[in-house]
Amino acid sequence: MARFQTRYICQACAHESPQWMGKCPECEAWDSFIEEVNLKEKGSGGSKEGSRKQGFLPSHNAPTPITQVTAVAKTRRSTHIREFDRVLGGGLVPGGLILVGGDPGIGKSTLLTQVALNIANSATAEDTPTVLYISGEESAEQIKLRSARLGTESANFLLSVETEIHIILQQLDSVRPALAIIDSIQTMFDSDLDSAPGNVSQVRACTTHLARFAKSLNIPLVLIGHVTKEGSLAGPRVLEHIVDTVLNFEGDQHHAYRLLRAAKNRFGSTDELGIFEMYENGLIGVENPSAVLLSERLEGSSGSAVASTIEGSRALLVEVQALVSRSPLASPRRSVTGMEPNRVNMILAVLEKRLGLKLAEQDVFVNVAGGIRILEPATDLATAIAIVSNFREQPIDPSTVLLGEIGLAGEVRAVSQPEKRLREAARLGFRRAVLSKHNLPKLVSNLGIEAIGVESVSDAFRHFFTPSSS
Ligand code: TYD
Ligand code: MG
Repeated sequence: MARFQTRYICQACAHESPQWMGKCPECEAWDSFIEEVNLKEKGSGGSKEGSRKQGFLPSHNAPTPITQVTAVAKTRRSTHIREFDRVLGGGLVPGGLILVGGDPGIGKSTLLTQVALNIANSATAEDTPTVLYISGEESAEQIKLRSARLGTESANFLLSVETEIHIILQQLDSVRPALAIIDSIQTMFDSDLDSAPGNVSQVRACTTHLARFAKSLNIPLVLIGHVTKEGSLAGPRVLEHIVDTVLNFEGDQHHAYRLLRAAKNRFGSTDELGIFEMYENGLIGVENPSAVLLSERLEGSSGSAVASTIEGSRALLVEVQALVSRSPLASPRRSVTGMEPNRVNMILAVLEKRLGLKLAEQDVFVNVAGGIRILEPATDLATAIAIVSNFREQPIDPSTVLLGEIGLAGEVRAVSQPEKRLREAARLGFRRAVLSKHNLPKLVSNLGIEAIGVESVSDAFRHFFTPSSS
């Protein structure tokens, strides 16, 4: 007999409690408990029995000497979308479970339909891959319309509109596709459980079934998951532990650019970034992101500086914009988009202390143009100079790129992979780079760009601005 008929489950981390709680003691999420009735426990054994009865899990996972295990790198399957392959670490790994999360409407179904069609269309004489797309959200007609919009279809692209996990497992078993896509994991349910689809226990049970299945048949499986800001849908955090790869599809509803980032990847690096643009006929990888990100720059305006950052394995030029204006408020605003607000606060403090700039009474807005988010500190110097440039209303030379992390003593620290960053800047026509002097000794000379070393923020300041009394 069940200990209690009703239990409350945190939708963020699956913590269980016999009574409702406002705040989860495990993951500290607020208002995350949902009541789930636990009826099936009186039947014998519940879900475990259920799946064993189905009997479709072949037990060919006998212990194997490591010398006989084939490495995954050889067997990856390309999705024929360069940006997607890059983020995956080179393509789909057999048996790999990938969770693609993102806000509704960002383009998850579009991206995965494109992947599915590419693979289904990549048949050769030796290899005719089928793809099974299981949708719990949209009808077959809607998916057909999307594929028409993408301008291609294929008989090897199989559609199934289904939400019950055991039926899905049977379909997977009979089709044995080269890739399976579940759109979305929140719409799937296990009839052995009584909670509603989308609840954390359902999501977890379905994912566990699918994971076991994908591993035993060596099929790559993509799960699409919604992540809403309010957290009203179940547990991305629970899923993150089960799957091999977590990809976040981000972007601004108001920009056409979409960024695909890996938050976890058992088969590759997590700092690769894929950049897409949404068009009428699908998502297209952006070949030259630096040029796109800089395309709307107003050259010669104050408060703008270009930094060369590294995202994954490539360099990316971004424009950092700053607006500094006298604040009417007792505690002036500090508003930051596209980078870590604490870093900007630190840079402001360094500018006050080391350069004596009176920024305490100013509102400061800092923005990375293009809706992109930068995580590395190598943009510090560009941020600092953009702030000073706007504060003093003196534009800086638009053909200079800045790189360097700023330390608390006001020192400009060396950045990693300076050559890659400078090459990208040179390629886009920049003529000078201001960077830490500690980066200079190891630089090769033929980069096509003049490298100017600085030791501190005050050095950089003297390079860009004429001294005045302000
Ligand atoms: P969708 O992939 O359904 O988003 P998600 O699955 O993440 O909820 O579609 C996202 C948006 O993209 C939708 O508003 C329609 C638009 N879209 C295009 O602009 N071009 C296209 O080719 C397609 C298929 C969709
Ligand atoms: Mg969708």
